[in-house]
Amino acid sequence: MVDIAVIPGDGIGKEIIPKVCEMLSTIDSSIDFTYYGISSERYLNKGITITDEEIEDLKSYKSILFGAIGDFSVKPGVMEQGVILKLRKELDLYMNIRPAISFKAITGNNINMTILRENKEDFYSDISGNFNEHKTFNKNDGFYNYNGDINIESDDQIYYTMGFLSRKNLKRFFRSAYKIAGSENITVTDKANAVPMYSLWREIAMEEAEPFKREIAFEYADSLAYNMVRNPKKYSYVIAPNLYGDILSDMASSLTGGLGYAPSGNIGDKSSMFEPVHGSAPDIAGKNIANPVASILSSIMMLKHINQTETASIIEKSLENVIGEGIIPVESGGHAGTHEFIEKVKNQCSLLKNEI
Ligand code: IPM
Ligand code: MN
Repeated sequence: MVDIAVIPGDGIGKEIIPKVCEMLSTIDSSIDFTYYGISSERYLNKGITITDEEIEDLKSYKSILFGAIGDFSVKPGVMEQGVILKLRKELDLYMNIRPAISFKAITGNNINMTILRENKEDFYSDISGNFNEHKTFNKNDGFYNYNGDINIESDDQIYYTMGFLSRKNLKRFFRSAYKIAGSENITVTDKANAVPMYSLWREIAMEEAEPFKREIAFEYADSLAYNMVRNPKKYSYVIAPNLYGDILSDMASSLTGGLGYAPSGNIGDKSSMFEPVHGSAPDIAGKNIANPVASILSSIMMLKHINQTETASIIEKSLENVIGEGIIPVESGGHAGTHEFIEKVKNQCSLLKNEI
């Protein structure tokens, strides 16, 4: 028996994820799903983002399938920081794998790259505040006035978030990244030319590459963004700090059909959480037009991670067949609504399963 925790969340997450789980059940009845009602709706009713008990509970699963979270009626950041970022930190999910792989029938190209995103540090930091609270800095360079004597009524106010990187975390992150990348080409990105803390990032990137006897290329994130659009085939694995990895993975998906085709896996040594890169998209939720492919791909990544390889390859093949037959999601100019698309993949799965 495999027990998976499911957090459909909000918007299109709630619309797609339970259907994907139903599909998984029809192929493999040994998979059990336990649902968690963590959502903006609950937050609006009860003021709860996620409870400590839920976090403890979720730690006991090898894998979580996550939809999306966030709603127009909740202040931006509350659910994102209170749920997703909290889970990444509390469950110690330090590696975020974000493939951007095109389906030829959708994009006409064959781009295949993966962003490996550090998932806990960098500017995703709680070391934040403003100088109304902390009057500890003392600097006056003519423009900024950090002399600790802030006049709240004036433009002197300064808000800050301190980015940080830790040697311990980066060591395990790079080790894991090089293992994942295997013998494919690797580009490590940062802004070591502008942000001093990335010198540690580079140092550890080089140190950890040594045992793998690997050549790695370094490219500044701005240059990488430029070249990724002009020449995407140059890249196989891109290793990025948290914030640049967030931005670059959206960008990469725009080259391979869009966010509707972008899955991800948040990986730790004990737990893991798989989620489409897209958000809850409340503007299109409930209209049967959201693209379910990113969630289906995320479920495939999850099954591979927990060694359910046969089920994973049935879904993978079915998805390819369905798209290959010209059944195209609305997002990509086709006619297949959310439910019809999942239904087609599910039927294809049953056919393939019977052939085995
Ligand atoms: C993502 C999302 C999150 C992030 C948000 C919702 C906090 O954009 O998973 O890419 O910035 O990591
Ligand atoms: Mn993002």
